[in-house]
Amino acid sequence: MGRRLRTFVFGAKTKLLCVALGVLFCMWFSSKIGYIMSWNTHFPSSVYSPDRGGYTVLINTWKRSSHLKQSVAHYASCTGADAIHVVWSESDPPSEKLKDHLNTVVLKKSRSTHKLDFRFDIYEEDNLNNRFRPIEGLRTDAIFSVDDNVIVPCHTLEFAFAVWQTAPMTMVGFVPRMHWLGEERTGAVSYKYGGWWSVWWMGIYSMVLSKSAFFHSKYLELYTNAMPPSIHQYINAERNCEDIAMSLLVANTTDAPPIWVKGKIYEIGSPGTSSLHQPHHYDGRNKCMNDFVSMYGTLPLVSTNVKAVDTRHQWFW
Ligand SMILES: *[C@@H]1O[C@H](CO)[C@@H](O)[C@H](O)[C@H]1NC(C)=O
Repeated sequence: MGRRLRTFVFGAKTKLLCVALGVLFCMWFSSKIGYIMSWNTHFPSSVYSPDRGGYTVLINTWKRSSHLKQSVAHYASCTGADAIHVVWSESDPPSEKLKDHLNTVVLKKSRSTHKLDFRFDIYEEDNLNNRFRPIEGLRTDAIFSVDDNVIVPCHTLEFAFAVWQTAPMTMVGFVPRMHWLGEERTGAVSYKYGGWWSVWWMGIYSMVLSKSAFFHSKYLELYTNAMPPSIHQYINAERNCEDIAMSLLVANTTDAPPIWVKGKIYEIGSPGTSSLHQPHHYDGRNKCMNDFVSMYGTLPLVSTNVKAVDTRHQWFW
């Protein structure tokens, strides 16, 4: 009896394993066949359709023109990019040489059907809030906000844009962060800013950072004109946390979490994706979170465990 049961169990397990291997092979094979037979010829590399509008790439730069040259060249080559705006907050305006160089690069790299609009938005004062000032003559609702050293591959960017189009009031990005409940001191609740590792470990986040995220252009207006001036002053003085403020603003407006999109992104001048995960100035970030919460009088952030993935790059449904 005992032996029969064992053989039975063994047999069942082996069968299960064989079936699993068979299924895996079929999936692998069909994905290859899919490409060979070109089931997706209509959408060779992205789900992006030019009829549905594009996005404006908003690059925040500061004294790193070599990074700027690389990132402008890269984003100009993405089909969905309708315009590239560079936020320039240095006392000296960009040199004619740099402008000429970038204009030429944009013309050469651009693959969109109409002329890509390339501009500098120049501010004399070096103020972190500049990165979210409303932009005149904007042609798109979608803003892709990015640091000058962050490169998101075009196909990943187009996928995130497609995600944003399904939820245009939501912030959609690649760098998730979390607010964790800290210890209660003197009866008041305090929060801790959670970096990459804690998000990865717990699988929960409540912010995506504006160093690489899509959001609706109306948030530029809200950030600049509706957000309490005390928050602007704070950010200007601390020279930090404008991205946290943007996350709070969007959460306060939508009462909903942001969307984290799966995709590899790169930092110019650092190997792999590592430094996007490195903890830096966390004390300052904790302080910002708690100070903003007291300025709002509440914590608007909503946490989530949802992550958007491209179904074509998933083996399992
Ligand atoms: C947050 O949202 C509420 C309700 O919509 C609004 O009354 C309040 O002014 C917003 N707070 C900030 C700081 O924008």
